[in-house]
Amino acid sequence: MVRLAIIGAGFMGSMHAEVYSQLPNVKIAAIVDERGEKAKSLAEKYGAIPYLSADQVFAKSDITIVDICLPTFLHKEFVIKAAEAGKDIICEKPIALTIEDAKKMVDACRKKKVRFMVAHVIRFWPEYAFIKRNYDQGRYGKLITITCTRLSPRPTWGWQNWLLDNSRSGGALFDLHIHDVDFILYLLGQNPVSLYSVGTFSQEEGYTHVFTTYNFPGGITAFAEGGWDMTSNFPFEMKFIAQFEKAVVDFDSTSTPTLTVYYADGRVERPQIERKTSQVSEGNISDLGGYYFEINYFIDHVVHNKEFQIITPEDAVNSLAVVLKELESLKTGKIITF
Ligand SMILES: NC(=O)c1ccc[n+]([C@@H]2O[C@H](COP(=O)([O-])OP(=O)(O)OC[C@H]3O[C@@H](n4cnc5c(N)ncnc54)[C@H](O)[C@@H]3O)[C@@H](O)[C@H]2O)c1
Repeated sequence: MVRLAIIGAGFMGSMHAEVYSQLPNVKIAAIVDERGEKAKSLAEKYGAIPYLSADQVFAKSDITIVDICLPTFLHKEFVIKAAEAGKDIICEKPIALTIEDAKKMVDACRKKKVRFMVAHVIRFWPEYAFIKRNYDQGRYGKLITITCTRLSPRPTWGWQNWLLDNSRSGGALFDLHIHDVDFILYLLGQNPVSLYSVGTFSQEEGYTHVFTTYNFPGGITAFAEGGWDMTSNFPFEMKFIAQFEKAVVDFDSTSTPTLTVYYADGRVERPQIERKTSQVSEGNISDLGGYYFEINYFIDHVVHNKEFQIITPEDAVNSLAVVLKELESLKTGKIITF
């Protein structure tokens, strides 16, 4: 049985807590939040002890894992403190807002020989894992294009409205769109040759809607649209359409079933995906599936001392680096080459 602390009892902290409560080898020992009432109510739900400050749990030797679900601008400070306290760490995405900060986090974890995983959940999301598996096996032939879409109403649930503050979240570019950037890089296993981005910008909120075209080696074209400036009644949606030589794979989170494979020979297949619904009321996602597989993977790899393969700290730094290239394209209006 491993004992862990969740730092940050907001939307993601609550989602992660729900997953840990379903794992037999994990005890949520502590919940930390500077908003005492948040820490208390989540701790009561899972039989944990609430704390106001992370320093209190970093000092506890019986807590060996910390899960950092804090606003992005705080990731660096708390990951480094946790590493210095010798804890194994899972930290929400994006790793940080600058490469300098991200590298300091990775270096601190390496120096202290603690495990560090950045929670890029889309790599574990069943429909995205499905296409990755089939791409790797070459089941549908060569990939020609992939289009990824992620659209949401404005995220107004955050502590101090931090998500809508560009300096603290990086806007939709760093917070929302990075999910698809990270997935495209994971799927193809390499960086693009070049990219070009356009988007909608506001001084306070940063880029709220981004459209990027990526040219990959071998003539593969990827496109991703990410925006959180939809009307408040617009249902959160994530989608992809992957066009292969022998089939088109179509995923739409708002459809039932979510996945359809259209083969060039006329067959249509609807692969079944297992659902796990979350009880968390804040935020825009109700499916526990990806979070469950992600956290289960993290715990299993820490407990059995196995190297992370699906997402390494370097992968998280690279996804941030590609988003920063997109920012350069957005600001200059130029195609950025790698
Ligand atoms: N993987 C995903 O699908 C996904 C979805 C949403 C958010 N996220 C990421 O999760 C992280 C958290 O986002 P969120 O939506 O849960 O935010 P949130 O605002 O709902 O929760 C953050 C919590 O941190 C607490 N907090 C702030 N400063 C603190 C401090 N110094 N010490 C202790 N507690 C403190 C706040 O009180 C709040 O409860 C972000 O990095 C975000 O990008 C990931």
